[in-house]
Amino acid sequence: MKKLLISLVAIFTLMSCSGGRNSTGYSIINDMMYAETYEAHSENNHYENGQTNQLAMEGTIARGFMPHPLDSEGQPQVLSNPHEMNAYAWERGERLYKSTCAACHGDKGKADGLVVKDGGFPKPPKFSARKWKKVEKYSVGYVYNVITYGYGNMPSHAQQLYPIDRWHVAEYVREKLMKKRKKKN
Ligand code: HEC
Repeated sequence: MKKLLISLVAIFTLMSCSGGRNSTGYSIINDMMYAETYEAHSENNHYENGQTNQLAMEGTIARGFMPHPLDSEGQPQVLSNPHEMNAYAWERGERLYKSTCAACHGDKGKADGLVVKDGGFPKPPKFSARKWKKVEKYSVGYVYNVITYGYGNMPSHAQQLYPIDRWHVAEYVREKLMKKRKKKN
């Protein structure tokens, strides 16, 4: 048994060294070396454009990325968060707010983020402003919409946040930053 093992190791070692440094050596399992399937970037005469990689069919939507329906004025039709807000979701909303939005809006929504203070980026409105109290006008869905599409000088943040996280952040902004003033009054 021992001899067999030693000779097997010797054979493999010799095989892998044969043919000089430019040789790829012997191929033992040929269908792995020369696959019959098309490589992603190879030519392919089965398709009109001659490529293996094809674009997704028109209108394809990635799972979990269903667009948010808008009315004719570009306002969101879903006004409240369709997901459950548990302790984890609130925590996630807060953390993602701080990492994605606070650079401009500031940790407490006072528009004192570094990008505004030192960077000279146009100042956003403070989330404590009176106008945010109107929940019918500025619902959670409204904030979701601003994150998804941007608003005026604020660019869209759809690339940074998954749809479900946009809801978490929107809830956090709406409930914890925009409503603060209300309690004091
Ligand atoms: C690069 C800086 C920047 C970042 C990052 C940013 N915002 Fe803004 N945001 C702005 C500016 C500037 C405005 C004001 C835009 C205007 O009125 O032209 C604004 C406006 C808003 C408004 C008010 C829209 C209205 O109707 O007046 C909301 C709500 C908002 N941002 C939420 C968010 C959230 C949530 C995030 C994080 C996902 C975020 N923003 C990230 C700069 C930023």
